Amino acid sequence: MAAALYNGLKVLTSYHRKGGVGKTFFASTLAYLLATGGPDKKGKKRRVLILDYDSQQDTSKAFLAMVSIPGEDEYMPPVHPEFGEIDDPDWGGTNTSSDILFDNPVYEYPTAHDNIAILPSEGNVDRVSALSAQADELEVNISRYMRDWFEKSGIHEDYDVVIVDNPPSKTPVSAGLMGAATHVMIPTEVNRDAIDGATLLLDRIDKINDDRDVPLEVVGIFPNMVPSPSRLSVKDKVGLQWLYNPDNRTSNYMADFFIQRRECYRVFERPSMDPSHFSFVHNFHAQAEMNKLYNHVVDSMWGEQ
Ligand SMILES: Nc1ncnc2c1ncn2[C@@H]1O[C@H](COP(=O)(O)OP(=O)(O)O)[C@@H](O)[C@H]1O
Ligand SMILES: [Mg+2]
Repeated sequence: MAAALYNGLKVLTSYHRKGGVGKTFFASTLAYLLATGGPDKKGKKRRVLILDYDSQQDTSKAFLAMVSIPGEDEYMPPVHPEFGEIDDPDWGGTNTSSDILFDNPVYEYPTAHDNIAILPSEGNVDRVSALSAQADELEVNISRYMRDWFEKSGIHEDYDVVIVDNPPSKTPVSAGLMGAATHVMIPTEVNRDAIDGATLLLDRIDKINDDRDVPLEVVGIFPNMVPSPSRLSVKDKVGLQWLYNPDNRTSNYMADFFIQRRECYRVFERPSMDPSHFSFVHNFHAQAEMNKLYNHVVDSMWGEQ
């Protein structure tokens, strides 16, 4: 029997073609939930590597003391804690996720959480975009580079799962990353635009799978930022009904729960690395939702509870 793809390492990408739907919220929250064994901490604690490719750098800031650059919106990665101990003349002491694509030395950063390491986002993707003039070519190249890294860098020995956070909108970078993933989760808003985007995305995944021996698996489509039942507008209801309508192919992938719009989920508005980021303990309903999300993802990816 052929060896498992990436020696069994799972690569979960948080994807949607649209910005602002919750890709980053899902990526960072699931990294935390999978590493800590879920909201009740009773599940298996998995070793997680986060690859942040989101130019907004929110996941990086949630897990790492990113360094602000005076007068700039972007943050730089800090000096790696093991710089000086690791004897590598080719290494400058910092890393971003993009270094994987440039054959640079890559050393993941530890975080304050035992089982979570991260390669932060370098902010704008200009350097990556400049790799190929043609969008198609860039996408294919990124997929190839990432597959190679997942297959050959030996990271399957250190991690059970890689979680990829993506640029805000559809780019050759996010599409290329999806081409190298084993699993994709799709948070979506329930407005028409986001729903159309999710449908197009399923078509895109079919195309990707035409060329793959091991198919990219859809973990689920998750309605996110859904208003509370009493505040659902007619449009929201129509959107939800559409997603779950058996005549639409989205229905095959729908989670059987929603993630509501909640103040306690607005984690990126909090200070960097704030310990309250992922503690939903004060909100019973949020806990219950996070539990459903965690169980759904674990079940879909590992087939266990
Ligand atoms: N369920 C939710 N309830 C409240 N705010 C949310 C929820 N999901 C995401 N947000 C907020 O909405 C904004 C967009 O989410 P984000 O995850 O950054 O989207 P994306 O990465 O797809 O662009 C962020 O400010 C985030 O904190
Ligand atoms: Mg984002």
